[in-house]
Amino acid sequence: MEAVQAVRGMNDILPEQVGWWQGIESAAREVLENFGYREMRTPVAEKLELFARGIGESTDIVEKEMYAFQDRNGDWLALRPEATASIVRSYVQHKLHADSGHCKFYQIGPMFRHERPQKGRYRQFHQIDAEVFGLDGPMIDAEMMHMLDVLLERIGISGVTLNINSLGCAKCRQVYREALKSFLVEKGDGFCGDCMRRRETNPLRVFDCKVQRCGELLESAPRLIDYICDDCRAHFDAVKDGLEKLGTRYAVNPRIVRGLDYYMRTTFEVITDRLGSQNAIGGGGRYDGLVRDLGGPDVPAVGFAMGMERLVLLLEQEKGRPVRLPRCFFASLGEKAGQSAFLLAQQFRGQGIETEIDYEGRSLKSQMRRADKSGARYVLILGEDELARREIQLRDMLTKTQRIVPLENILETLLAVDSEK
Ligand code: HAM
Repeated sequence: MEAVQAVRGMNDILPEQVGWWQGIESAAREVLENFGYREMRTPVAEKLELFARGIGESTDIVEKEMYAFQDRNGDWLALRPEATASIVRSYVQHKLHADSGHCKFYQIGPMFRHERPQKGRYRQFHQIDAEVFGLDGPMIDAEMMHMLDVLLERIGISGVTLNINSLGCAKCRQVYREALKSFLVEKGDGFCGDCMRRRETNPLRVFDCKVQRCGELLESAPRLIDYICDDCRAHFDAVKDGLEKLGTRYAVNPRIVRGLDYYMRTTFEVITDRLGSQNAIGGGGRYDGLVRDLGGPDVPAVGFAMGMERLVLLLEQEKGRPVRLPRCFFASLGEKAGQSAFLLAQQFRGQGIETEIDYEGRSLKSQMRRADKSGARYVLILGEDELARREIQLRDMLTKTQRIVPLENILETLLAVDSEK
């Protein structure tokens, strides 16, 4: 019979890779909690309307990539393509703004976008997402990017570039939109059909176009950064100043527009040159109008998300596979010895010692082969003779030395020997 395969672009994370994931998750929790962020977990499905209103009707994510479906009641739902809109929804719904001046949240979990799968780009992928509500000053923007730096260092990833830009506020955006529109009209038919449409509906989205010719034409397009108002410029200057004070290296890249509509003022991306075309390992920015647009109070906000698959790819490139080895392996000969070894193994585990055991009563030779393959540092060998003498053999696989230990002392002996190493 033909075996059922996973959905294209949705991957299993197998035990041999999961060490990277656990390492990244625990580093993220540690760093984010250290900076005052608290975890929030929102559902993977939301009302479709949330993302259409939140991310923007004419973005690629909403127009082309959403997993949208009608449930059995006929309600339109979508699998979340990102976490920001969901977190804002939750923040408004539970009136979390009433609690205190500002709130910091983070979320780690799967997101869904129906993109064309390739290395570093999947249909189910995972993000570490962080959001701050209630602060409009530039220091939090700078602190957030500094935190990203700390997090990447803690995860063990180096050699990435932080690109920053300012998209200005609604006021400066209006002026820029007209300038961009005139440019697009002037270049006329050179652009693809999608871009011609974007010119009318949402001109800024032309920068998301993946058609090479459009990209070339856009090289000479006006730059938003040249149109931002005095207030936005002062904000941006203060963000840069903050980054410098924090010792966080950055490059200003006026071409960053981000693929979601909600951004204003500070935007940023963390880029690597080691993942081919899927070079963004994280991105984010300020989105001061979104809470209001989603029915909440007029609260400023800023956030980012990092793609965990891309972090794992980088770690694998740098460090190979993570290995998690048991500390001890019990080998035994004979039924009685097998039972004693089985109970001893449970005691070892109870003490937090990672322990493997043979369950199948195979020959000592094949058990020793398995013990060797498992990578355990210590092998404990219990035969009928040893059991009769209330002894057990303790073999150190690294030093290739072996000693006999009284059975009742084996746990203490192992803990003592192991702590010397
Ligand atoms: P984004 O730039 O769409 O931003 O996604 C953030 C990161 O998620 C990307 O830099 C990338 O590493 C990863 N990512 C996105 N799509 C895929 C995919 N198909 N496969 C693998 N990885 C992917 C956001 O999602 C915003 N919500 C970030 C944010 C939070 N802005 C404010 N707060």
